[in-house]
Amino acid sequence: MNASAAPSWHPALEARYAPLVEKLERLIPCMEVPLHLPWIDAILELKRRRGALIMAHSYQAPEIFHGVADVTGDSLALAQAAADCDSNLIVLCGVHFMAESAKLLAPDKTVLIPDLDAGCSLASSITAADVRALRAQHPGAPVVSYVNTSAAVKAESDACCTSANAVQVVDAIAAEFGVDKVIFLPDRYLGAWVAQQTGIELVLWNGVCEVHETFTAQQARHARERFDARIVAHPECAPEVLAEADFVGSTSAMGQWLAKEKPTRVAMITECSMADNLRNQFPQVEFIKPCNLCPHMKRITLPNIHACLRDLKHEVTVPGDEAAAARRALARMLAVGRRDRV
Ligand code: 13P
Ligand code: SF4
Repeated sequence: MNASAAPSWHPALEARYAPLVEKLERLIPCMEVPLHLPWIDAILELKRRRGALIMAHSYQAPEIFHGVADVTGDSLALAQAAADCDSNLIVLCGVHFMAESAKLLAPDKTVLIPDLDAGCSLASSITAADVRALRAQHPGAPVVSYVNTSAAVKAESDACCTSANAVQVVDAIAAEFGVDKVIFLPDRYLGAWVAQQTGIELVLWNGVCEVHETFTAQQARHARERFDARIVAHPECAPEVLAEADFVGSTSAMGQWLAKEKPTRVAMITECSMADNLRNQFPQVEFIKPCNLCPHMKRITLPNIHACLRDLKHEVTVPGDEAAAARRALARMLAVGRRDRV
């Protein structure tokens, strides 16, 4: 195959990937599957030759999540896998802050991202200078930053958290510093929810997730009243949406809740591909899924994963002094952040 040409379909692919074909046909429009198979085949071959590990966040499209990834999960699972991984080459199918976290936790590895512009509205809402200004306004208050931030912001923080361990990390940091006020950034909705759970005063920043902020309480009520669906929502949604939910939890906690509750019908108030990927795991549950796609997550495609592995391009690096401080904040999270609270 020449460097720029798309790999072509051939009949043997259907048989070679029969279980995957059957799975993808249940999760995405079935006529798309033959378009993806040649890319999946070519990526798996390149991955083997390069000895690479492909990680995919739960918001990645099913053809990536199920088709080519070795490690899948929420941002906490990917960070932990990067810390533990023994491959020298990681391809992170997610957004830039996730690839930076992987690099911080696996500094000796090469970390590639298929599109360097895969950003995040939360990460771009705050800078390191903003964090320094917040500290000056609230002397003595420790800073907990959501992993959805740049390495420069993490470097100014005392600890990081993900949505899976935010409650636990805030509790632990308040106890460690002996304070009852913590600066929590940048997601004001996640922060408001954590404040409610912990009873700790949180100084919030005005960041929001552009995907989750679009959900309305009316949508949630509609799903319940018209479809008799249980409502599960990510804590990046607005408080009035969370108030309608039967369960509020992180990406991983939502899956755990489904496994425990086994609802007949559920409305997933979160990114759209998440419901597609979970549908595979819970065939007995009827999913009412929104169509809110994260445009940043969707910059990652099979063709650009292939190009990234083929050309070993789009390496993610973090400057040394910034890396050391950011790594400390992530390590503090991993030390306290077990998954049992959210
Ligand atoms: P998780 O921490 O739940 O993986 O979420 C990351 C994210 O970007 C949510 O919008
Ligand atoms: Fe950022 Fe929201 Fe996209 Fe998650 S879904 S990566 S928080 S913009």
